[in-house]
Amino acid sequence: MLPWFQDGMFPLYLAPMAGFTDIGFRTLCKEKGADVVVSEFVLADAIIRGDYKVWNSIEFTEEQRPMGVQIFGSEADTMADAAKKIVDSLNPDFIDLNFGCPAKKVTCKNAGSSLLKDLPLLGEICQAVVQALPNCPVTAKIRMGWDSQTIVAIEAGKVIEDVGIQALAIHGRTKAQGYKGDANWDVIHQVAESISIPVIGNGSIDAKYDICKLREQYSVSGLMVGRAALGNPWLFQELKSKVDDGVASPEPSIGERWELVMRYSEIMKGHYTHLREDMLLGLMKGRLVSFVTGFPGARKLRNRLSRLKSWDELYALRDESLSAIELRA
Ligand SMILES: Cc1cc2nc3c(=O)[nH]c(=O)nc-3n(C[C@H](O)[C@H](O)[C@H](O)COP(=O)(O)O)c2cc1C
Repeated sequence: MLPWFQDGMFPLYLAPMAGFTDIGFRTLCKEKGADVVVSEFVLADAIIRGDYKVWNSIEFTEEQRPMGVQIFGSEADTMADAAKKIVDSLNPDFIDLNFGCPAKKVTCKNAGSSLLKDLPLLGEICQAVVQALPNCPVTAKIRMGWDSQTIVAIEAGKVIEDVGIQALAIHGRTKAQGYKGDANWDVIHQVAESISIPVIGNGSIDAKYDICKLREQYSVSGLMVGRAALGNPWLFQELKSKVDDGVASPEPSIGERWELVMRYSEIMKGHYTHLREDMLLGLMKGRLVSFVTGFPGARKLRNRLSRLKSWDELYALRDESLSAIELRA
């Protein structure tokens, strides 16, 4: 049993999100209560090729543990080789296999959610990775199925459990749904009841949910939070505070939010030392923009954040935003 499920623990995972769950954001979420974090997915072939950008995106700090690295691909041997390389050089707490990505550039290569249409191959990939990693746990993440006519989550769960995968995250949507519509927690529940490895429920969790109720109602062993945490790492704290004392923790002030933006920027600066500042700011654009949702004048701020060329411009923008708020108060 993975240690973070032992003794009645009920972990909150930060969902892997390409373009967002970088080393900076993972650190912030961990500090604000996420129990387990996962890197964005990386292509197994790119790992084997030694693609520097890809390797850089999965590095992590000791404080982030337990930390998983998620890989995707369509060939069992390549996936096993890539997983082994990652474990040998970074020693993550687990390797996670992606069987949920709906993007065309992934599914057209028969990877991600496309493997839900080929459960024997999915099982072969899982088995190869498990066998290649005698000392590192392997977990998987799936969607419910390709479309509403082909819901295979229970079947896939059984295949996955049988080959020695140690936990399964289920995003309660089909590939055809993308990110739209309601997540189907009844299917997540059915899978949780039909296999014995921990099932982690995922899909549209936000601050209005009571995590204890989700645990009881759907028999899941943990929860995974995605979009609602973007720009809002406090969400983890908030979800937990309701359990601890029944009261949601107070909303962070704009000043606290700016502090977080600065902290995030410092972590990124420290990690991406090889990038010129305008290039790094370009890389961080989407992530910085996600932090200012709900700020006074957010539209203008987003616009300026996405055009930043230097750290000085970022500091100036923060100062301007804070003094505008002071003037208003
Ligand atoms: C921008 C973005 C990038 C994502 N990248 C990944 C990824 O790399 N690997 C993965 O398994 N899921 C990925 N997902 C899916 C999320 O992990 C999660 O399953 C999905 O967003 C549903 O959870 P939510 O409703 O809490 O957002 C991504 C989602 C978004 C919005």
